[in-house]
Amino acid sequence: MKAIVYTKYGGPEVLQLKEIEKPYPMDDEVLIKVHAVSINDWDWGLLQGASFVDRMMSGLSKPKKQILGSDIAGRIEAVGTNVTRFKPGDEVYGDLSGSWGGFAEYVCAREKALALKPASMSFNEAAAIPQAAMLAKQGLIDKGQIKSGQKLLINGAGGGVGTFGVQIAKLYGVEVTGVDSTSKLDMLRSMGFHHVIDHTQEDFTKNGKCYDLILDVKTNRSVFDYTRSLCRNGIYVTVGGSMVRLLQALVLKPWISMITKKHVRIVVLKPNKDLAYMNELFEAGKVKPVIDGPYKLNEVPKAFRLFGKGDHKGKIVITI
Ligand SMILES: NC(=O)c1ccc[n+]([C@@H]2O[C@H](COP(=O)([O-])OP(=O)(O)OC[C@H]3O[C@@H](n4cnc5c(N)ncnc54)[C@H](OP(=O)(O)O)[C@@H]3O)[C@@H](O)[C@H]2O)c1
Repeated sequence: MKAIVYTKYGGPEVLQLKEIEKPYPMDDEVLIKVHAVSINDWDWGLLQGASFVDRMMSGLSKPKKQILGSDIAGRIEAVGTNVTRFKPGDEVYGDLSGSWGGFAEYVCAREKALALKPASMSFNEAAAIPQAAMLAKQGLIDKGQIKSGQKLLINGAGGGVGTFGVQIAKLYGVEVTGVDSTSKLDMLRSMGFHHVIDHTQEDFTKNGKCYDLILDVKTNRSVFDYTRSLCRNGIYVTVGGSMVRLLQALVLKPWISMITKKHVRIVVLKPNKDLAYMNELFEAGKVKPVIDGPYKLNEVPKAFRLFGKGDHKGKIVITI
């Protein structure tokens, strides 16, 4: 089968299209013919071996898992003897982070990492959903306890999490502000953000406005900057960003709620937990993934370059 393989950490140039052996499912796995896969921030970090955590997961000096790609959609081709939920021919999708392997024609996965794909959802749409939509849902609803009538700000609004976030937020009747770079602002307006802020022109933490809920995918400022922008009893939820800033938020959050009546929460992704919820929203026409692409398998290095520059809108999807 064809796959995008990397044998050393580096930039998109280390990704190579290769012919390799097709995988074979273990007893508790299914074999999936991959139809689409999307790029996540985690793939980008693992490609470069960017942090100590990336290298602890994938190998200190070189990557042990040589095929990236966690968010996949495809058709089941074979099932292991212990698999009970799926059969050959089922169309499925899910987040395979931990085992990865999605930038390939075939991948094996545990059944608990998968959900059935609704017939009305394309493979490209399904591949865009898992990580970004789970982070948006778990950030806004589980941690953020979003409520009708609130003012919400999404920082880093034009990528995967933000474009799902605004669609989920609209179901609650909140007033949403999106922060991103100049080239994304028209898209944000067209998606229903009530207000947009260009982070290259304005620092939203210094504009004197307050928000009931902030969902942050960048976390590139001090936690005190964010809490200054919260209204009384407001909640700041981070899904990721600078490790140093996240650590600061983790250490200070109990003190902040005790002293200021504002709250800081950190999302630890529960992969695939809410795929059934996303299926319901999709089938009701309430959520539509924003797709950048689709690109072809041999264009994966180009797609990673685009992702690395932050030039993508929504989710970058590769069709296989
Ligand atoms: N909590 C967990 O367990 C967990 C698990 C997996 C991933 N994550 C995290 O989840 C996040 C993924 O978010 P995503 O998929 O939405 O990322 P994304 O698609 O890369 O989107 C990020 C957006 O932020 C914008 N941006 C960059 N710098 C900015 C700034 N200073 N201010 C405002 N916006 C800025 C980018 O556009 P421009 O570059 O054009 O500005 C881009 O549109 C990452 O932080 C990742 O580490 C967390």
